[in-house]
Amino acid sequence: MRALAKTTAAAGLELIDAPEPTCGPDDVKIRVLRAGLCGTDLHLEAWDSWAAATVDPPQIIGHEFFGEVVEVGANVVSVRVGQKASGEGHIVCGICRNCRAGRRHLCIRTIGLGVNRDGAFADYVVIPASNVWVQPDDLDPDVGAVFDPFGNATHTALSFPIAGEDVLVTGAGPIGVMGAAIAKHVGARYVVVTDVSDYRLDLAKAAGADRVVNVTRERIADAQRSLGMVEGFDIALEMSGNPSAVDELIANMNHGGRIAMLGLPAGPFPVDWSKVITHMLTIKGIYGREMYDTWYAMSAMLASSRELEQAVRSVITHRFPAEDWEQAFAAARSGECGKVIMDWSDEDATPRRAGDDVRDQGRPAGRARGDRAGRPAQARARADDAAGGARQHRGGRGAELLREQLPRPGRPPRRARRGARCVRAVGFWHGVGAVHLRHADPAHRARAAARGVRRAGGGDPLLVVLRR
Ligand SMILES: NC(=O)c1ccc[n+]([C@@H]2O[C@H](COP(=O)([O-])OP(=O)(O)OC[C@H]3O[C@@H](n4cnc5c(N)ncnc54)[C@H](O)[C@@H]3O)[C@@H](O)[C@H]2O)c1
Ligand SMILES: [Zn+2]
Ligand SMILES: [Zn+2]
Repeated sequence: MRALAKTTAAAGLELIDAPEPTCGPDDVKIRVLRAGLCGTDLHLEAWDSWAAATVDPPQIIGHEFFGEVVEVGANVVSVRVGQKASGEGHIVCGICRNCRAGRRHLCIRTIGLGVNRDGAFADYVVIPASNVWVQPDDLDPDVGAVFDPFGNATHTALSFPIAGEDVLVTGAGPIGVMGAAIAKHVGARYVVVTDVSDYRLDLAKAAGADRVVNVTRERIADAQRSLGMVEGFDIALEMSGNPSAVDELIANMNHGGRIAMLGLPAGPFPVDWSKVITHMLTIKGIYGREMYDTWYAMSAMLASSRELEQAVRSVITHRFPAEDWEQAFAAARSGECGKVIMDWSDEDATPRRAGDDVRDQGRPAGRARGDRAGRPAQARARADDAAGGARQHRGGRGAELLREQLPRPGRPPRRARRGARCVRAVGFWHGVGAVHLRHADPAHRARAAARGVRRAGGGDPLLVVLRR
């Protein structure tokens, strides 16, 4: 199979012909269709001191991916061949105190896919079944490939209650932009995003930020004044890893403000601790995603909000065939990009080594097999067919549950309408697995309204009902 690997302890990567990984009894083998590039991959390619201290070549890299399950181990009951899936790239020990308490994101022996074991920049990847997140069949593969960073954004943005609060996001990389979109989705009043790049601030604006601040020209305090804010930000999401961003963030918090820190600084740096103390700020470090509550929240939020789904999609600015990995890395390094995706779905492509002229071999950058959004033609047709521009539901675990309960997908869910209890008003959908709002119990309607559930797209609003 094709695989992008660190073959020697030096800068660079090679697209090699590697043996397919074997699927153990508790594992799942996935045919990778899309993979996302992340800062970690750039560090590994450049072979900086962190990479040299962390990775032991030869090693296939890559940890953000989406694909199709092609094999499951003998003990696996939770995943089936043919299902679409994303994967949690943190593989935990299962036996430390936190793992045994169900706090797997706090495992003390976490190892990283594509860092400490062979990763997903390849035709096939193998991960433990417990790390597989089954996705709806019609999920846009590009969106499926960004669940890992979308999960970082979700974990950070949902760390503190945000409804009605003023939120500062420092750093408009893909994660900061998605964090801003989530903050709006869950009901922040103002979301202000900072960066040093106008290109990235434009992405933040497009994803729903109320105000963007280029800190090379303007101060965060100016943005506060222009929005009529008088006391400071209630919540901050630090998504840059830049010490000067942290400094200005702390200076702009309200007393009692809460700060979720995701950005990884290059080294130790001074902090104005007297301000943290006298302003009684709470600072929380964020790593990875909560397993698997963050994943549940991501799927549920995407399923219930077309706006959020579009915001996540808007972060993906480039897609290259896997053979053009050098161009993909150059685009990611340039900073004039949001998320950069590699398309591994082309089975005919011949493995080629770095340095060969592979640029003309692959499909042109950005070209997908379906529409521009990368949806397969079939899924697009299904979505377009839905009456009055109404959209197909995009799933999530709730949808998955419902779909399994409903005898004939595509028909009005009578069983749900008559007997179901509304245990969670997830959102209004158009399509399978939902009931017309007018059929819903008034208490359920009220609950949906209280949860801020909004109507998406055109057509009749539908209330998603999950049975216990
Ligand atoms: N904790 C975790 O689990 C985890 C996981 C993934 C990424 N990260 C880190 O989170 C951060 C965001 O990830 P990303 O993929 O979006 O990274 P990114 O590098 O693409 O984005 C960081 C952004 O911060 C901006 N920036 C630089 N200096 C700034 C300043 N002074 N003020 C405001 N913005 C500034 C950069 O221009 C860039 O757009 C990175 O630091 C990354 O290393 C942490
Ligand atoms: Zn990553
Ligand atoms: Zn553990």
